[in-house]
Amino acid sequence: MKQILRFDAGLRGEIEIPGDKSVSHRSIMLAALGNTPVEIENFLTGADCLSTVECMKSVGVKIERDGNKFLVTGNGLHGLKEPENILDAGNSGTTVRLLLGLFAPQKFLATFTGDDSLRRRPMARVIKPLVQMGATVVGRNGNKNLPITVLAPFGKIRGIRYEMPVASAQVKSAIILAGLYADDVTEIVEPYPSRNHTENMLKSFGAKIETSGNVIKVYPPEKLEAPEKIVVPGDISSAAYWIVLATILENSDVVIKNVGINETRTGILDVMEKAGAKIEILNKRESGGEISGDLRVATSKLHGIEFGGSTIPRLIDEIPAIAVAAAFAEGDTVIRDVGELRVKESDRLAAIVEEFNKFSPGSFEAREDTLIIHGGREKFFAKCKTRADHRLAMSCAIFGAAAEGVEIDDENCIKISYPNFLNFLNKVKS
Ligand code: S3P
Repeated sequence: MKQILRFDAGLRGEIEIPGDKSVSHRSIMLAALGNTPVEIENFLTGADCLSTVECMKSVGVKIERDGNKFLVTGNGLHGLKEPENILDAGNSGTTVRLLLGLFAPQKFLATFTGDDSLRRRPMARVIKPLVQMGATVVGRNGNKNLPITVLAPFGKIRGIRYEMPVASAQVKSAIILAGLYADDVTEIVEPYPSRNHTENMLKSFGAKIETSGNVIKVYPPEKLEAPEKIVVPGDISSAAYWIVLATILENSDVVIKNVGINETRTGILDVMEKAGAKIEILNKRESGGEISGDLRVATSKLHGIEFGGSTIPRLIDEIPAIAVAAAFAEGDTVIRDVGELRVKESDRLAAIVEEFNKFSPGSFEAREDTLIIHGGREKFFAKCKTRADHRLAMSCAIFGAAAEGVEIDDENCIKISYPNFLNFLNKVKS
């Protein structure tokens, strides 16, 4: 249990955020497929990425850690070994979905499980395309849920054309990773572009990947040439809490350092600016195919806006934080096409409505896959249940800091993506 009190000052100075979760996962997985040591800097040491580290160690990859620096020495594209035990992905959808794609073509058996939340999450969306590619994958509940076992395929993995029913970077990445081992080109069509870190990083490993609009083509490489170093940018999903808090607290003017601003991830900047936020990008730079910069955010008056469609995959994990901002805006905010929130670490659509209405009764409504926020209403102290969902917990924390305080029942889940998040909120009591 933790209490976060109302923040009576503005947010000022500089904030350092942890490394990007998506990029951290991929850095370990891809470094494992090269033949030379790769130094990974600013790796996110949150529980999810550590699940990936453990799974990759279990298939014979040498991984050494020094704080948030990792040294990975791969055994080549064909050097993964059969794990001796069941692999535990913990709470991490990215670990299990991407590794199902990577392990499907291997000549071994691997079984994945995960925590209560991950065992409830939908896995058919990954199993289906992998089976079409010739993989042998079986899962609980009619191939819908973990535990899932992947076996050596009969023959070679096939290059296919796959039209994805939902925009999901995890599913896309699973198909791309399996496609590295295919007999032919793999073509993936997304309804809307989702985060493209797998494609960017694979290109920096010398792989041929072509993207044209919503279509991605993967050409199976003979080998991957690992770079000596990967520098993970800061996670815009973690920056989101400070972007929102600095905007809605009076007297804020803050610089959030080193934030990854890949355009498949910057939906939050677009919608916050559209709602009236003042956000400036400073020191824009590029490394390993990823762009980063420092974000200067100051107090602003917000108004209600409407968005959906192609914007959603570009800010899917930031919707709880954006919903907090919307509660402090004048007028209504309408966020369409957010059905995917129902299958995240918790049912985030239901959780936003139930938990956030405790701060401001009647302000949050879900109608089918639309979230409506009636902004500008009175706010109170709230006691929130975090439902073992890290992003919900952090969003409740900033809501309380900007309103009249909050008590969260269990802060433990925050370590999934942002282990020292609460240290940056200045008034936290156990
Ligand atoms: C992720 C993709 C998104 C996101 C998740 C991380 C990734 O999930 O919500 O936190 O690293 O590829 P979906 O692919 O299910 O949309």
